Formats: sequence, structure tokens, C-alpha cells
Amino acid sequence: MNSLKSHQKTASNTSRILKVLLAAAALGLTASCAVSDAAAEKLPEVKADAYPMSLVEALQQRRSARNFKSQALTDEQVAALLWAAAGENRPEQHLRTVPSARNKQEVQVYALSAAGASLYEPATHSLKLITTEDLRPLAAGPQVNFAAAPLIVLIVGDNSKLGKREITYADAGFVSQNICLMATALGLSSRPRMTMEKDELKSALKLGPQLEIILNNPVGYAED
Ligand SMILES: Cc1cc2nc3c(=O)[nH]c(=O)nc-3n(C[C@H](O)[C@H](O)[C@H](O)COP(=O)(O)O)c2cc1C
Repeated sequence: MNSLKSHQKTASNTSRILKVLLAAAALGLTASCAVSDAAAEKLPEVKADAYPMSLVEALQQRRSARNFKSQALTDEQVAALLWAAAGENRPEQHLRTVPSARNKQEVQVYALSAAGASLYEPATHSLKLITTEDLRPLAAGPQVNFAAAPLIVLIVGDNSKLGKREITYADAGFVSQNICLMATALGLSSRPRMTMEKDELKSALKLGPQLEIILNNPVGYAED
């Protein structure tokens, strides 16, 4: 995790980063919810010694919560989760915490919260606001309880990068599992999910035809 030392420390809680992004939107970057030309916001550095739980303990404690408290996450927690999902651990070579077939890095993640949806940009460890619309209800779909989670990480595959969708699906599984394990290490919980309103999410995020929504991981403090 020391590899992220070059990344700047910035805001101290989730709302601060999201407020900056919302301010950019309010300055007229958009007439509707789409704000894809907003500047990206740096996330806090992920420190190796910040989370002392061992991997064995995380594996022992991992479980998929069904209900989440609405309690907000800190920026440090969000940063750690996104870095685990798709961040760079060897930035000089742009290699990631997750493996990918032929190193195509075809899986990208979006952070969905009450403040909107942002694309995680691994090379700069930052969030780029895409829309101020709260897309969590679409990610929850008919399992409406999951919309209460303060963060839902949406996992999207780019089918133009690898010939076979099933390989991209396999790569997406590594991303989802990294989120689950990091959530556990943070004292949080997650749940890998495939149930969601994929078409509406695609449209809200303006995803091109080559991009396929594969999984989502609500993350938060478990209610159960
Ligand atoms: C690929 C995949 C898709 C899943 N989709 C859903 C889902 O749509 N809704 C849900 O509530 N749980 C979903 N789950 C969670 C499983 O139901 C859960 O992992 C399983 O019950 C085992 O519980 P555990 O994770 O606590 O060990 C999914 C899990 C995986 C691996």
C-alpha cells in the first residue's frame, strides 16, 4: 500500500469530496444531471498500517450483509475500497491490486452515493463525477433495502478489450472479492450482487455499447 504515497492527502470525509464535485456541477457544467466534464477529485492516500486486520481474520469474518445502516463512510474508507477494487499497487507500471487477463484492465468501477455517481480513475487515484443523480435505487433494483448503503460500487466491463465476455466476468469477480475483503478489514460489510436495473443504469451513466454492467457491491456498516 506504500505505493500510493505519491498520491496527495485531501479531504477528511466523504461529504467533503462529494461537495466539491457538486459545487463544480452547480457552477454550470451541466444543465441536467450529467456532469462528465467536471474535474476529478483526488482521494486520500491508502496507508499500509491503517488497517491492522490480517488477511486470515478478514477471510474468517467476511460475510454478505443484507441490510446496511445509512451511516456515511469517511473519504479514507472510500479511498481504501476503491483502491482495493481497481487501484494501482505498482503505479510506475500502471499495474493494479487486481489481476486481469492479459493485463487488459478492462474492468472499471463507479462509486454511487447520495451525492451522485463518479468514475474511479486508477492512475490518479481520484473520482470523476459523472452525474449528481443518486443511482443507488437503480443498483438496488427490486432488493430495495440495498439502496440504504452509503456506497455502492458498480463494476463495469469493457467488452471491446478482450474477445470473451466470460473472461471479463472472471476479472470482475476479483474486483468484487477485493471490495468484500477490504470492507471486512475496515469493519464494514459488502455483498456482491447481480440484481439491478442494468439498462437504466447504463443510460444514466451514458455508457457506450461496449460497456457492460456486471456486478455491484453495496458497502457500509451491517445492520444484521
Ligand atoms: C456472482 C454473485 C451474484 C450475487 N448476486 C446477489 C444478488 O443479486 N442479490 C443478493 O442479495 N445477493 C447476491 N449474491 C450474494 C450471495 O447470495 C451470497 O454470497 C451467498 O448467499 C453466500 O453468503 P456469504 O457471502 O455471506 O457467504 C451474489 C453473489 C455472487 C457471488
